[in-house]
Amino acid sequence: MKRYLGSPARLLLGLTCALVMGASPGEGVAVAAVESSKGNLCRTFPQNATFPEDFPSENASSVGVCALARPEMKQPNPYSHIMSFQSSGASVVVGINSSLSLWLKAGEETHHLNDSLKAEAWNMVCVGLSVAHDTPTSTPEEKHPPAKAYQVWASLQGLPLDVPLGANITEWEEDVKVCVGTSSKRDASFTGFVTGVTLQVGKGELTPDNCSLLLEANQLTAPLNESWTPHGPVFALEEDLREPCNTPVLTLVLRETWDHDKALRWCRSLGGHFPTEEVTVGMMTLNCTSEEHLSWTSDASERKEGPTATCPVLLASGGVGRLPCLSELECSLCQVPAGLPYTLFGALTDFDRHYRLSARQDGFFFFQGETSNITRSAAGWTLQSRLHRRQLHLNGSVGVMGRRAWRSSSHAHAADTLTFTVCNAIQFSSDDGVCVLRSERCDGRVHAPDMSDEEDCGSRRLLGKDAHYDPGVRPFAGQKLTIYYMFEVMVVNKMETDKGLANVELNLHLRWEDDRLRFVDTKMGRNSFPCHQIWTPTFLMFAGYYIGPAVHPAANRTLCYLYWEEMPRQEHQLDDPLMGEPGTGRDGAGRAGRALRRGRYMTRANISQYNNFVASYPCLLRVSRYPFGKYMCNLTFGLFGDHENVDWKVIDPRQENGNPPILYYHGDHDLLDYKLEKITLYVHNNMMTLTLHLIGQPDYHLINNFLPSTLMFFICYSSFFFPIAGFNERIMVSLTSLLVLVALFSQATDSYVKTPYYKLIDVWYVSLIILCFLVVIANGVVNYLRVQRVKSHSSLMKKVVLAKKLNIATPLTRSPKPPRALTSPSHLSYPSTAPVTLPRLANPRKLTRYPFKPV
Ligand SMILES: *[C@@H]1O[C@H](CO)[C@@H](O)[C@H](O)[C@H]1NC(C)=O
Ligand SMILES: *[C@@H]1O[C@H](CO)[C@@H](O)[C@H](O)[C@H]1NC(C)=O
Ligand SMILES: *[C@@H]1O[C@H](CO)[C@@H](O)[C@H](O)[C@H]1NC(C)=O
Ligand SMILES: *[C@@H]1O[C@H](CO)[C@@H](O)[C@H](O)[C@H]1NC(C)=O
Ligand SMILES: *[C@@H]1O[C@H](CO)[C@@H](O)[C@H](O)[C@H]1NC(C)=O
Ligand SMILES: *[C@@H]1O[C@H](CO)[C@@H](O)[C@H](O)[C@H]1NC(C)=O
Ligand SMILES: *[C@@H]1O[C@H](CO)[C@@H](O)[C@H](O)[C@H]1NC(C)=O
Ligand SMILES: *[C@@H]1O[C@H](CO)[C@@H](O)[C@H](O)[C@H]1NC(C)=O
Ligand SMILES: *[C@@H]1O[C@H](CO)[C@@H](O)[C@H](O)[C@H]1NC(C)=O
Ligand SMILES: *[C@@H]1O[C@H](CO)[C@@H](O)[C@H](O)[C@H]1NC(C)=O
Ligand SMILES: *[C@@H]1O[C@H](CO)[C@@H](O)[C@H](O)[C@H]1NC(C)=O
Ligand SMILES: *[C@@H]1O[C@H](CO)[C@@H](O)[C@H](O)[C@H]1NC(C)=O
Repeated sequence: MKRYLGSPARLLLGLTCALVMGASPGEGVAVAAVESSKGNLCRTFPQNATFPEDFPSENASSVGVCALARPEMKQPNPYSHIMSFQSSGASVVVGINSSLSLWLKAGEETHHLNDSLKAEAWNMVCVGLSVAHDTPTSTPEEKHPPAKAYQVWASLQGLPLDVPLGANITEWEEDVKVCVGTSSKRDASFTGFVTGVTLQVGKGELTPDNCSLLLEANQLTAPLNESWTPHGPVFALEEDLREPCNTPVLTLVLRETWDHDKALRWCRSLGGHFPTEEVTVGMMTLNCTSEEHLSWTSDASERKEGPTATCPVLLASGGVGRLPCLSELECSLCQVPAGLPYTLFGALTDFDRHYRLSARQDGFFFFQGETSNITRSAAGWTLQSRLHRRQLHLNGSVGVMGRRAWRSSSHAHAADTLTFTVCNAIQFSSDDGVCVLRSERCDGRVHAPDMSDEEDCGSRRLLGKDAHYDPGVRPFAGQKLTIYYMFEVMVVNKMETDKGLANVELNLHLRWEDDRLRFVDTKMGRNSFPCHQIWTPTFLMFAGYYIGPAVHPAANRTLCYLYWEEMPRQEHQLDDPLMGEPGTGRDGAGRAGRALRRGRYMTRANISQYNNFVASYPCLLRVSRYPFGKYMCNLTFGLFGDHENVDWKVIDPRQENGNPPILYYHGDHDLLDYKLEKITLYVHNNMMTLTLHLIGQPDYHLINNFLPSTLMFFICYSSFFFPIAGFNERIMVSLTSLLVLVALFSQATDSYVKTPYYKLIDVWYVSLIILCFLVVIANGVVNYLRVQRVKSHSSLMKKVVLAKKLNIATPLTRSPKPPRALTSPSHLSYPSTAPVTLPRLANPRKLTRYPFKPV
């Protein structure tokens, strides 16, 4: 572990680096910050520009990628990628596990190394492939050139690592893709910073040990140029890297009597750590105490729980001992890398924002800005400037780092909350100055020792609006407001014709902009807040198309949120002591000052609203073709108030299939009395009409109404086939049939939908009843003709002809023609003087087949 630490090469390297970098202080270096496991940054290097023509050759047999990586101490994922390069089907990945131990992956093979990265320090990591040896020459007939065996190499801080991994590659014929972080969605990226990303082509194992050369060849730019494709929470920033390879360390003396944990927190809040055993030589001169224990120190050993737990201490005589962690040492040493930037957050205008730490030989330290400094005296910390005499004080018993109430010397009662912190761009400072990852803020779990990372969270802080914000006034009043919508039909309940009510559960997604709102500290994904705090579209719902009865949703659930799929890069808000990040781009105008602060960060963030409600509304159908026919049941949505100035646009244009667009509905299309053909949404006159397209379901009625009534009519008609003399039987059968038909009809009118107009089923029954009635009458007439006395032969003949005509199918004729059902009413041979027209029943057979041929 950390074998490069003690190496003389490392020392020399560090020295030169320090010298080189020291020569150009303050120069900005582009640094990529990977904020969470989802971020990555990739770039493709074209093959012809990357590899020499004859690669691999004698002088160019190796390719790899180098970078300076600064991982955070805490890595949220057990395995995280730092960087990778891919070409010709070969991929080499270097990553760390959660204890920052390096691992390498070539193809599917993973190799864990004993070496680990130093947290919060720049580590020079290289990884690549070099030709190991030629594989035995294959037969010349083979089309493909022989595969070459490549050896994976890696180096850490310029020292080669031992990696027994290899890959076989036929030819370098692809572009090289270099990624910072993971290149696939399955894996996670490390959390930290990367700079000095370079692609190396050379000879043998490339182990560059000059970090300034890496920084010179850095392929990253700030802001990122278009050759890089960032994904997720990763961004580039300009950093002042004075000594990235070997940072000199300042040793500070903390003169408070503190136990181990408190002293460590103090030291961590300054961006430092306790001295380790190896680097304590020369610290004896900083004798802050007369006791034998000089300082708390750190080692890798595990700490036990409970009050008896012991922690390592540095002895004044040299060497390391152990003391209970709860015992209080008079003073403690803290080692802080030189050049760390310290930032002052909060509403203040007349002092500097950025400071550097300076330490004197005796361990006394202060913070120096461009015009101001923060110094310590017996009374506490003082922020003062060389430009004016105003001062801010911190009471002596508290530390300076973190969120504190600074008091002005002139107004002793007023206090300004300022946050003085060393936390970097992806960190958040807790109240006592401990840095936690920004992604850990407001995530529902406590990470900072003082729990302040979960304070001031939630919608009250998320949503900023000025005091004059009126939720009743719509955004862009008087102008066109574009509202994006998406309807989802969840359930269409069964419909009964007599009720005529449609019962639909809908999800309605809306999205719009409100330029009066401001969002702070938003996270990836959904950021919810209560809907009533802002303007939301109020809908007027009514059944019908242009006008109709108003509909009130039965159950409604609504949710308002801001959704980030890809977080935009956010600048820290320096005048917010909570180190907030505004939701999106700010308008930049206006300068600080607390009064202005609220309105300064304008956002055009899209507000999303999700509504779920059940609408129960009358369909107002005219079911004259019941139980057949096609119907439309409309529900119309309009915006309440100023609906003319609204532009409706669909969220996902892919759903715009058909005109009007058809909504997907995966539920049951069988609505008992109707069949749901489709659901369409039609935008007209700034209103939206949701239409249920219904088809009558005659199947049930075929069995229950049409079949029995047809049979009854056949029975009625069959009375014509009875012997002409059997009048009683004939009249009985036809009358009974007529009665049954009437009974069926009344039962049908009782149980089916009642309408003031005639429906097809009514017409059907009435026609059958009339026909059966005519059969009864005809039977009567036939009998009358049979029994009537005749006076002459000719009149007898006339009667016989008339009777025959009336009862054409009588057995007397001996030529019975089978009745052709109802195909032709003329077959019934009514007296020509009384022709019966059968309205709307011209072709009943065609009609009865209708439901089997759905249109
Ligand atoms: C590399 O190839 C691309 C097309 O494949 C060409 O546009 C580009 O100019 C070439 N670059 C070099 C350095 O040859
Ligand atoms: C390789 O390098 C050597 C010396 O640097 C040079 O003489 C030789 O020509 C180079 N070979 C190729 C193929 O470039
Ligand atoms: C990380 O890897 C090292 C070396 O393989 C191993 O010793 C250590 O236990 C691993 N840490 C975790 C948290 O898995
Ligand atoms: C890792 O360290 C262990 C013990 O220190 C050693 O046995 C092992 O060979 C080392 N592995 C590598 C890859 O260096
Ligand atoms: C490369 O090829 C050689 C010979 O075919 C084989 O023995 C070796 O396992 C291969 N290595 C890899 C990493 O595929
Ligand atoms: C590192 O690179 C710089 C700049 O190119 C150079 O001046 C310096 O000598 C190099 N240091 C080493 C140790 O090679
Ligand atoms: C992007 O930056 C790199 C490194 O500075 C540079 O080589 C490349 O030409 C730039 N690309 C574009 C498109 O500007
Ligand atoms: C350290 O202690 C010695 C003796 O106690 C004293 O002479 C010396 O001045 C002290 N050094 C500092 C820097 O305080
Ligand atoms: C801090 O600034 C004040 C005012 O400019 C100055 O008097 C004082 O010496 C400075 N302190 C240090 C330690 O530089
Ligand atoms: C520190 O603050 C406390 C109360 O806030 C006050 O009683 C005390 O006098 C202050 N000390 C100094 C040195 O200002
Ligand atoms: C129902 O809406 C459609 C448009 O989707 C329209 O064409 C139709 O006339 C409307 N029907 C009724 C009865 O309002
Ligand atoms: C439905 O929304 C209205 C306002 O639009 C509200 O008054 C009512 O309480 C809500 N009903 C339910 C069940 O949430």
